[in-house]
Amino acid sequence: MDVLRLVIVLGFTKTSLADYKYKSPKLCEHQLTVPTATAYKSLTVDWLLDCVRQCSHDSSCLSATFDGSQTCYMFPANDRNCSVPLQLGGSYFLKESITCLNNGTLNTTTHTCKCYNGYIGDKCQRIMMDCTEGFYSGHYKTDEFSEYLIKPTLAPQPFYVECYMKDIGGATVIMMNSKWSPFLDRTLNWENYTEGFGTPIANHWIGLHNMNYITNSRPQHLFVEVISGLDWEARWRKYENFKVEDESTNYRMTYSGSFPWTQTEVGADPDWSKVIASTPLGDSMIGLNGSAFSTFDRDNDLDVGRNCAREYQGGWWYNACADCNPNSPIDEVFWKYDFINYEIAYIEMLLKAT
Ligand SMILES: *[C@@H]1O[C@H](CO)[C@@H](O)[C@H](O)[C@H]1NC(C)=O
Ligand SMILES: *[C@@H]1O[C@H](CO)[C@@H](O)[C@H](O)[C@H]1NC(C)=O
Ligand SMILES: *[C@@H]1O[C@H](CO)[C@@H](O)[C@H](O)[C@H]1NC(C)=O
Ligand SMILES: *[C@@H]1O[C@H](CO)[C@@H](O)[C@H](O)[C@H]1NC(C)=O
Ligand SMILES: *[C@@H]1O[C@H](CO)[C@@H](O)[C@H](O)[C@H]1NC(C)=O
Repeated sequence: MDVLRLVIVLGFTKTSLADYKYKSPKLCEHQLTVPTATAYKSLTVDWLLDCVRQCSHDSSCLSATFDGSQTCYMFPANDRNCSVPLQLGGSYFLKESITCLNNGTLNTTTHTCKCYNGYIGDKCQRIMMDCTEGFYSGHYKTDEFSEYLIKPTLAPQPFYVECYMKDIGGATVIMMNSKWSPFLDRTLNWENYTEGFGTPIANHWIGLHNMNYITNSRPQHLFVEVISGLDWEARWRKYENFKVEDESTNYRMTYSGSFPWTQTEVGADPDWSKVIASTPLGDSMIGLNGSAFSTFDRDNDLDVGRNCAREYQGGWWYNACADCNPNSPIDEVFWKYDFINYEIAYIEMLLKAT
């Protein structure tokens, strides 16, 4: 769809246009005179922005000049440019037709595009690099959770992820393993963990390649949410500056610090408006910082005598082996602190750009 926008060509007046979503003013180089002969309408206005407003509300108006005193001339064509004479102090505006790209829709009240599917920008011209950027673009501020395209700066191609928008301020879901979501065959090998498996919204793992692209394109904090039979409450932990390195390191994982994440800390992160359980989640990734990724067919763990991935039936950053096991069939999943004797019903991991 098209929206009429004003391009502003200033004569010599420099006016603040900060309140308007118009293109940056282009300055004319010459002292010019106003070509009023072809105007279909002229009216008295107080100042330049009233002329802009009048033209923007009149569908016949495709360009206008403000003569520098109190007259606004409106023209039915926009084929003029800076070589058209304008008098000293006068300003010349062009309406430019813009198009919302990639199935974006025009809001005719605000003259802005609403984008979908992960596209952002004033014309929906670009795919967001992660869900946090999508949230801050304004296009998805009122969405809850859904599937979107992202293209981290380092990724060669866009790919689909689940984003949590409104409540969390834009977080990219990197895995979910839930007993309430359809069971996934968990005889998964190195290739499966690098490429990803499952689909967003349901049980899935977005893949080590994609985690590497997201976490190396800009810093991200990891949020882990676990629900267990202990109290069936969602408990959270935050791992700051979580990073997955590339294949040459077997997707080594690092983070800079580990913190329980509680309701009382919500104020520390104003975007995290959702009220979350006040019981913090224990640190069961302790000892795993700097570990390589292992699957049953690629044993990169540090326990020479064991194959942790085979023993635990899942792929993970095992050391020797681990106090957590998020990726196995759900009855084998554990998160030792604080659920040593309780079943884990749900585990989800999200990334939020810092
Ligand atoms: C600008 O205006 C001049 C004079 O009318 C015209 O010759 C020229 O083609 C115009 N340029 C553009 C880019 O419209
Ligand atoms: C736009 O919508 C059409 C029809 O639903 C679809 O085929 C196309 O893939 C969409 N384009 C984008 C960029 O989402
Ligand atoms: C256009 O934007 C205004 C202001 O944000 C909003 O109230 C209105 O619902 C929007 N209209 C449509 C059709 O989305
Ligand atoms: C796992 O990878 C194998 C190839 O090694 C492929 O055939 C299979 O479909 C993948 N499974 C899933 C769930 O993606
Ligand atoms: C994890 O390892 C990295 C790299 O060796 C180091 O910079 C970081 O401080 C470590 N994080 C913690 C929580 O010890």
